[in-house]
Amino acid sequence: HCPPKMLWLLFLTLPCLGGSGPVTPGRGPGHELVGIVGGNAASTGKYPWQVSLRRYNQTLGRWMHKCGGSLIHPQWVLTAAHCPRDVRVQMGQLRLYASRRLTEVQQVFLHPRYVFAKGGADIALLRLKAPVTLSDRVGLVAMPPASLKVPQGTMCWVTGWGDVNAPTPPAGLPPPYDLQEVMVPIVAKEECSRHYAGANSTPIKDDMLCAGSEGRDSCQGDSGGPLVCRWSGIWVQVGIVSWGRGCGLRNFPGVYTRVSSYVAWIRQYVPRSPGRSLLPPTIHSFSEPPGASVPDPPAPPKTH
Ligand SMILES: *[C@@H]1O[C@H](CO)[C@@H](O)[C@H](O)[C@H]1NC(C)=O
Repeated sequence: HCPPKMLWLLFLTLPCLGGSGPVTPGRGPGHELVGIVGGNAASTGKYPWQVSLRRYNQTLGRWMHKCGGSLIHPQWVLTAAHCPRDVRVQMGQLRLYASRRLTEVQQVFLHPRYVFAKGGADIALLRLKAPVTLSDRVGLVAMPPASLKVPQGTMCWVTGWGDVNAPTPPAGLPPPYDLQEVMVPIVAKEECSRHYAGANSTPIKDDMLCAGSEGRDSCQGDSGGPLVCRWSGIWVQVGIVSWGRGCGLRNFPGVYTRVSSYVAWIRQYVPRSPGRSLLPPTIHSFSEPPGASVPDPPAPPKTH
């Protein structure tokens, strides 16, 4: 979420930066210190595709969490292009730093049109040195069909180990660093554009997707992580945490890279996983209300 931590200086002059933008007021006494923003701890095995991207900090002598990502194939992680490239990957863990085991990355592919988060094409692929073994805790998330249009108001979920918004200003997730989840509504592009255009004339591009409501959002450190929706029992990644003005502010939903815009690009690199298609062909269109007329697939593909 903007400002991506590693581009802090670059964004210092932009109002989306935590320091200069308005800060979400707390939601009053009794507001729990949980979140991504406004979220709660995720349960084991619910988001087995969620990974943490770590960068080595010389001073601390540790690999520190920088971004989120998602496993879309046993050897491929999807993330945001504004995340650092020199990373290792933690997977299969709900807590940061609970295990020292990190997976090495062999190669990073940034989208060629990427310049900075607000410019669009904020998407990258990490090829792991070796495929990982799938299990109850390490699983894949499905990619959407390129034709996917997620209706406004659809409730989806975003997860990560990024900043929580209470107490204000946004603060880091406290130990033990449990993965946080929050349900967010998809916001129509026109509505999202209107708010962002008024504030700092940042256009919401066609390859972006807005989601969130006051007090429910992703935040710094969630960048690169997945926004997923569930249809007929299948979790589909529709967004990648990219940027936003502040976190959880009224009228400023989080802005995500629209994954369906990049399915063709992803497929240039990432083979379909054995035994998994993108989605059963019968449910290739989600333009009707989710769940209404979408038939259940014969046997739900196992995601882990
Ligand atoms: C390493 O961690 C220290 C202490 O948190 C921090 O001040 C410093 O900026 C970090 N260095 C890098 C390169 O991130």
